[in-house]
Amino acid sequence: MTDNISAILYLISSVFFILALRGLSSPGTARQGNVFGILGMIIAVGTTFTLPTVLSYEVILAGIIIGGGIGTFIARKIKMTALPQLVAGFHSLVGLAACFVAAAAFFRPEAYGIGTFLDISTGSLIGISIGLAIGAITFTGSIIAFGKLQGLITGAPLTFPGQHLVNAILGITLVALVAWMTIEQIESTFWGIFLLSLIIGILIIVPIGGADMPVVVSMLNSYSGWAACGIGFTLGNSLLIVTGALVGSSGAILSYIMCKGMNRSFLSVILGGFDDGSEIFGTTTSREKAIKSGSAEDAAFIMKNASSVIIVPGYGMAVAQAQHALREMGELLQADGVDVRYAIHPVAGRMPGHMNVLLAEANVPYEQVLELDEINKDFTRADVAFVIGANDVTNPAAKTDPSSPIYGMPVLDIENAKTVLFVKRSMASGYAGVENELFFRDNTMMLFSDAKSMCDEIVQALN
Ligand code: TAP
Repeated sequence: MTDNISAILYLISSVFFILALRGLSSPGTARQGNVFGILGMIIAVGTTFTLPTVLSYEVILAGIIIGGGIGTFIARKIKMTALPQLVAGFHSLVGLAACFVAAAAFFRPEAYGIGTFLDISTGSLIGISIGLAIGAITFTGSIIAFGKLQGLITGAPLTFPGQHLVNAILGITLVALVAWMTIEQIESTFWGIFLLSLIIGILIIVPIGGADMPVVVSMLNSYSGWAACGIGFTLGNSLLIVTGALVGSSGAILSYIMCKGMNRSFLSVILGGFDDGSEIFGTTTSREKAIKSGSAEDAAFIMKNASSVIIVPGYGMAVAQAQHALREMGELLQADGVDVRYAIHPVAGRMPGHMNVLLAEANVPYEQVLELDEINKDFTRADVAFVIGANDVTNPAAKTDPSSPIYGMPVLDIENAKTVLFVKRSMASGYAGVENELFFRDNTMMLFSDAKSMCDEIVQALN
């Protein structure tokens, strides 16, 4: 295949990747987005197969079969709640792959047509050193993030005196080494960049608390994209450059959106807890205050007689895998003439789009699923807010208590509904460890149960 044709095919697959990202930006078009992504990847891999530089098809096929097999096995086994650490684990491999490609290009440049050992073109050297540095940072940073999310390492921020100064010195040294490598091609500089970047990867992630970890995972996603982009320049591969830049920029945008949703400073998260006055954890409960609790029959009665019910799902719905039973409950209510809609907070659950994915899996119609901005004002007209396994995303302390760690985070105004039903197992607080004063309000009824059991019982009562 001529260079021109492969360039055109790479361009077509880049367009598919852009369409994939566009599709993934809304639940209604997400499946289509995935299909575009798969098509783009098939064209990309197929085109790469035809390049004259390919030396061994056996090795590539073996890699696809073994890697694809492991990936399929993991994807089928993984629990939805463990996705953040899975993504972190995968990113560490992307980082490591970038380091391997950089090493291959540095030590065998003739194989890539970029010069000879220690006589590599400056442009390629810049790509190699940047890809190597970001790849190594992504590798160790993602391993630490995986360990924290999996509970193998403490989720609490690990800090030491002078940490930011040490990080700054190491960062400046790394930039100097990268510059040095492009001027003087010395083997030890390559290893210096690699080792220093591995250390920096660890140091910038350990001080970040568990609450910020999903933002970090998305940021590492972005880093892995830039690493691939750098390697794309090394290899002179336009597709890798475009794809890397797409991953890099979309990861950075997603991190920013998540920070906004949680009211966290983007800079403080990325720089490793610069303003950690807001690090959150620790629980408070006022057991002496009075609460009202009810049964599934009570909930069924109240909702059946309502004209409008807004369902607010959260992390507990995901843990209990209650989405199917919840959809059935919603359908029964609708059959009784009740207007049923779902309100999604941008950081409900533990990863971006967590609730959208679960509700889509249960075939909840997309038009019933509304984002915070679209539905928040409607709580005043709703008869019932049915909060299932959500807590922080409804906590009015975010609006009223400047000393609260979640102060400033946008929340769903569920207290404006005539009746608020909270499905949860206990009076425990949510992820942020902040008591929710709505549990004690007159218009609140607590439904203490596992989310799925409660939905099943309500469905039974409605039937
Ligand atoms: P949370 O505030 O964490 O509250 C979840 C509630 O679910 C808990 O209070 C828990 O109470 C209940 N629960 C747990 N298991 C349950 C089960 N099996 N059945 C019924 N209830 C159950 O969740 P949220 O409202 O979705 O808020 C998300 C939080 O995570 C926010 O603080 C957000 O900042 C943080 N966060 C989100 C993200 C993203 S990107 N989504 C990333 C990082 C952090 P019981 O123990 O009493 O049942």
